[in-house]
Amino acid sequence: MKLLILFASPRPEGNTAQLLEKITKRFDDSVEVTRFDLYKMNLKSCIACLRCQKVSDGFNCVHDDDMQKIFDAALQSDLILFATPIYSFYCMPPMKMVLDRLVYGMCKYYGETMGPSLWAGKTIALVSTFGYPEEKASDLLTEGLVRYAKHNKLNFLGAYGERQRSYREPFMNEAVEKRAEAFADKLMAYDDSLN
Ligand SMILES: Cc1cc2nc3c(=O)[nH]c(=O)nc-3n(C[C@H](O)[C@H](O)[C@H](O)COP(=O)(O)O)c2cc1C
Repeated sequence: MKLLILFASPRPEGNTAQLLEKITKRFDDSVEVTRFDLYKMNLKSCIACLRCQKVSDGFNCVHDDDMQKIFDAALQSDLILFATPIYSFYCMPPMKMVLDRLVYGMCKYYGETMGPSLWAGKTIALVSTFGYPEEKASDLLTEGLVRYAKHNKLNFLGAYGERQRSYREPFMNEAVEKRAEAFADKLMAYDDSLN
């Protein structure tokens, strides 16, 4: 299984990074991981120029930045894992930029004739960390990604998140580690033939 991880925390060793580390450490050889650290990349915002809508088989974006690499990796992957802390009830800015660039770049819905979604049938999942109780923290992003998946003709495998209870105690503990491993097992059990 080819797994693409899009990691978007401004803290390279923060809570989301620690959670992701526990998840990826659990993977066996059946998982081929490609990871992009979005904060280390040159990524620009979609400007709605519609250049991507002039072709039906590629990206064709007006920007010359690192997004082409993500576009290509997404097309080559089976499963895409979005990993982000929750700030102000949603994902971090570079992840939002990626979501916007991909929805237009991949979906040729906005030109003169209705075209395809180039990544139709792929699966996405979310891992997030947050400070509030889960139902008031990652709920809006989860709902947003469910809707994003439907619009893009993707499957949504699920969302997993952990709460940072306080700045005074360590984020990682045995219970969190166990749940991270269970989520890794869920990702590994994902069966592409169900698509
Ligand atoms: C500016 C800022 C905004 C935040 N907004 C939220 C929020 O809306 N909901 C929430 O549950 N936690 C919020 N948090 C807490 C973070 O999501 C939490 O500490 C997270 O685990 C940080 O992950 P990181 O260490 O990977 O950066 C916020 C933290 C900061 C600094």
